[in-house]
Amino acid sequence: MNLDSLKKKISDLASNAKTEFGSANDKLELDNIYRSYLGKKGEVNILLKSLGSMPQEKRKEAGKLLNNLKSDLEKNYAYTNSLLNDKANLSRLEKDKLDISLPGFSSRKGSIHPVTRTIRDVCNFFEQMGFDVEAGPEAEIDYYNFEALNVPEDHPAKDMHDTFYLNNEGLLRTHTSPVQIRTMEKSEAPHRIVCPGKVYRKDSDLTHTPMFHQIEGLVVEEGASFAQLKGLLNDFLTDFFGEEVELRFRPSYFPFTEPSAEVDIRWKKNWLEVLGCGMVHPNVLKNVGVDTKKYSGFAFGLGVERMAMLKYDIPDLRAFFENDIRFLDQF
Ligand code: PHE
Repeated sequence: MNLDSLKKKISDLASNAKTEFGSANDKLELDNIYRSYLGKKGEVNILLKSLGSMPQEKRKEAGKLLNNLKSDLEKNYAYTNSLLNDKANLSRLEKDKLDISLPGFSSRKGSIHPVTRTIRDVCNFFEQMGFDVEAGPEAEIDYYNFEALNVPEDHPAKDMHDTFYLNNEGLLRTHTSPVQIRTMEKSEAPHRIVCPGKVYRKDSDLTHTPMFHQIEGLVVEEGASFAQLKGLLNDFLTDFFGEEVELRFRPSYFPFTEPSAEVDIRWKKNWLEVLGCGMVHPNVLKNVGVDTKKYSGFAFGLGVERMAMLKYDIPDLRAFFENDIRFLDQF
């Protein structure tokens, strides 16, 4: 083969290959065409092998021409390949079109239970007044729930009908007041704490459930007085219920406070009790080794469900525990 006929062959081969590349519909077809020209047994290699039969001085130039052909075709292949890629991407995008006008599914959102919300509101108020939030166990022993709180051995609250006993000593706390004892045992006076939590009593009717929530408050300081207690509760209740709230302090009795009082709130036409309070009984302070010459204290315990019923106008206590989504949705 002479150089001229080789040149002719190369230019035919180049234009055929390019036309064929251009006609490929997809990557698979393109790669088959690629192999038929540039593969091991492809046209370009066949030509390369035929160089052996050329005279020595022409071989170098012929080799150069064939290498140029090779890189020319490689480039053309790469270009066609990228065109095909673009085309494939475009058609995939067309197919996968996202219809953003389709309405979505809305999921049901929860809301904060009125009991939780009331606990948060009350604790927030007292935290702003410098109180710490404490916690205590729901399974208590007789000593913390009754004895240390100056509740006499024969007090009616200790009756099997009121208290859930776990065994001889153990019981479910009937109020949050044991946290008063635990707090005063744990650290030295002065104290300013509130403690929210669950309490248990063997009671079940329209206005009582066997489990309910209380928030205990305790202040032990030099000069703590009943006037301070009254002022604090007054501020708290007007903050919680609003300026228009009507409340009254009524003398009462608790073994662990002296004097003692209860606070009622006017709801529609009736007075409803929301909390018990009083000056911490000296016997209680002595039980935990607080110096009664230096310190005095006051305490209060409020019923969370009662507060929430009044604030949110919920007529039936049981609504708090049934977890009916239609009830909870309103908060
Ligand atoms: N523990 C009392 C109750 O459950 C409430 C109370 C707490 C009263 C603190 C006085 C002081 O009824």
